[in-house]
Amino acid sequence: MLVLVTGGAGFIGRWVVKRFLDLGHVVRVIDNLSGGRVENLDGLRSADGRGPELVQGDVRDPRLLASLFADRPGACVHLAARVNVQSSLDDPATDFSVNVVGTHLLLEECRRRETRLVFVSTCMVYAAAVEDEGINENSPLLPLSPYAGGKLAAESLCLAYQRAYGTPVVVLRPFNTYGPYQRFDGEGGVIPVFLHRVQSGLPLRVHGDGRQTRDFLFVEDCADFIVRASLSDRAIGLVINGATGRDVAVGDLAKAIAGGSVPVEYWPSPHPRSEIARLVGDCRLARDVLDWRPSVSLPEGLRLTSDWLRRCAGGGGAR
Ligand SMILES: NC(=O)c1ccc[n+]([C@@H]2O[C@H](COP(=O)([O-])OP(=O)(O)OC[C@H]3O[C@@H](n4cnc5c(N)ncnc54)[C@H](O)[C@@H]3O)[C@@H](O)[C@H]2O)c1
Repeated sequence: MLVLVTGGAGFIGRWVVKRFLDLGHVVRVIDNLSGGRVENLDGLRSADGRGPELVQGDVRDPRLLASLFADRPGACVHLAARVNVQSSLDDPATDFSVNVVGTHLLLEECRRRETRLVFVSTCMVYAAAVEDEGINENSPLLPLSPYAGGKLAAESLCLAYQRAYGTPVVVLRPFNTYGPYQRFDGEGGVIPVFLHRVQSGLPLRVHGDGRQTRDFLFVEDCADFIVRASLSDRAIGLVINGATGRDVAVGDLAKAIAGGSVPVEYWPSPHPRSEIARLVGDCRLARDVLDWRPSVSLPEGLRLTSDWLRRCAGGGGAR
């Protein structure tokens, strides 16, 4: 199958591309490289030696999209997005344009070509988890940032296209994803940022009181979740969580990663009103529909990420 992966040169995208190639599919990537890197795709090949085709461009370019859909991809995995909560607060208009208008333009192509759209949304559309219960797909929604609001708007459009036109769509809500190839600069995820600071001998900075919890999903498990949802007919029309079902407080995570070798500092959150107090997912639907279970534990994922960071600090590779 020909698969179009938007944002395929980004962190999660790179692993999704790899998984599709490993399964023998033909992969075309569209990415404007605003957050991704060409090097993220280096060395990725299917068994017959074919690499991904990278088209540098913007998902908001209708002419480019028409040309990319001309040979009717079987599925389009839509990952391209502005992914930073702070950027969405600073510039909500651009966020809306990329994350909502961009999704709408892709939906139009998918409608025309009968291509399945796998929309990668986020757990940040949910209200905080209560007591001991994980968040399931019917739990209350409460977007607290333009980023989360835009993702929810784009989800609604996808589901409306499914109902109105029969366009095959799947909406996925991965929880906090981490691992190799994630940025570890100011724009990065909390795990690579913490690991990189420890490796550089710098104190770890926790935003807020550190009691906020997150359900950390290793990126190869996330990619497996996305690819299974792209290939399963049972997933069509559904909204599905990707999570481990376990959460950890960010302060405890920092202490574990610091291991006493660097101090842990507590800083005011830059956007306290957009912080979600507790995020832990219930992933029973993904298990039942996709036969998917995460397979990498947090300690193992931290080790794999830390090893990768050490290697790329040596080679000066990623950010
Ligand atoms: N990382 C997480 O924890 C997480 C969790 C849940 C959902 N997600 C979602 O997964 C997707 C991928 O996130 P990521 O963490 O890999 O981030 P990323 O920034 O590494 O990937 C996004 C990619 O989209 C590209 N892009 C951005 N705007 C574009 C545009 N207008 N046209 C074409 N390409 C564009 C970027 O260059 C980048 O390669 C996003 O949709 C994000 O909302 C991420």
